[in-house]
Amino acid sequence: MDRFLVEGGRKLKGTVKAGGSKNACLPILVASLLTDEPFVLHRVPNLRDVRTTLKILTALGKKVTFQDGTVTITADGALKNTLPYELVKQMRASFWVAGPLLARFREAVIPLPGGCALGARPVDIHLKGFERFGAACQTESGNVILSADKLEPAKITLRFPSVGATQNLMMCAALIPGETVLENVAKEPEIDDVTAVLNKMGAEIFTDDKGRLVIRGQHTLHGTEHTVVADRIESGSYMILSAAVRGDVRVEDCVPEHNSILLECLQEAGVPLEVGPDYVHVKPYDTPLKPTRIKTAPYPGFATDLQPQWMALMALADGAAEIDETIFENRFMAAPELVRMGADIVTEKTLARINGVKELSGAHVMASDLRGGFALLIAGLCAKGTTEIERVYHIDRGYEDPEGKLNALGAKVTRYNPDKDEF
Ligand code: UD1
Repeated sequence: MDRFLVEGGRKLKGTVKAGGSKNACLPILVASLLTDEPFVLHRVPNLRDVRTTLKILTALGKKVTFQDGTVTITADGALKNTLPYELVKQMRASFWVAGPLLARFREAVIPLPGGCALGARPVDIHLKGFERFGAACQTESGNVILSADKLEPAKITLRFPSVGATQNLMMCAALIPGETVLENVAKEPEIDDVTAVLNKMGAEIFTDDKGRLVIRGQHTLHGTEHTVVADRIESGSYMILSAAVRGDVRVEDCVPEHNSILLECLQEAGVPLEVGPDYVHVKPYDTPLKPTRIKTAPYPGFATDLQPQWMALMALADGAAEIDETIFENRFMAAPELVRMGADIVTEKTLARINGVKELSGAHVMASDLRGGFALLIAGLCAKGTTEIERVYHIDRGYEDPEGKLNALGAKVTRYNPDKDEF
């Protein structure tokens, strides 16, 4: 398994270009199941989760090519409506195929995704929605079996604005003729990107004046071509990284308004920024980094996907910072690893108290989730000495060529595989 060796203490300066959004790509690729016509997606990052999604589409019977950031999906005979557990266990978002498959076949068998490192992560909101469309949902031998004689549009209030459930239900509703109204939906920018794609495919989807998602579904949907929105989590990660190393990094080709709260928090922490229409320049500073209190929340609140990186930053604040994680019950896995690097962090349930320290020291640490893995990279780049990060595959799920992007800024991050005996 790959590891990173990270040399700490180097000054970082330069430009990072934001890639396409992982969390928009995954549901958009899945939306190709709603049609047999050609489907072309540009600005697709070469990530493990994207490749897993392409494997899923292939397993379901699509023909897929992926070259230079463009994915082309065409029909290759009849589609299947069942998915092997092998693929679902690699990525929870595999479950997003349920909505399109149910809409197309009135029947689908999808392995129930288990919990993950972040907590239990049930799919009850997805299933409740499918039931409201008229489907029967049974769980048998680890599979969710969805079946319906007829699907009907419905008015559904989600008990929580789940990102995945909003996307799954809107994809299903796009192929149910008539008007579906979803209330208490997620408002993440990735939802807007999925909306744009479904509308290009022929659905009619808009947000009404009460913030509800109105979906006018169709009998058939068409193929389309689309360019994915910038990845606000990747962009935000590099902004936090620059602030942590007190670097001079300009994140380009991003959508700053998608990171509004993060930018406010950075400013509150005393990090100087220049914000342009499609870039954020995080400038160097030599004043103390101010501790802040943040609370994660659905968009436009502070993104839970940026919380571990923020924790790494606050590890170096001049005083006591606090994080309240409200989205996932177990999202402080990076904390004990940061503590091994000299951070002073105490977690209790959803709260983390971080007493800033003067410096971190390089250590041998282990990534146990995607964003927590990047938090360790941030800490390693700030630390005195060398940090060795194990289980880099977590980071590869959501960051394209992280060592390439970091080394172009002046970092020294080396990927190696001890099993291959490369040194
Ligand atoms: C998506 C993102 C993930 C991000 C998360 C929250 C993708 C591929 N992943 O995940 O990076 O961290 O949004 O912003 O886009 N829940 C239920 N029942 C359900 C569904 C969700 O209880 O049926 C709970 C989850 O356990 C969690 C919370 O709702 O505690 C948020 O989950 P959700 O918004 O669904 O996250 P994902 O769509 O899985």
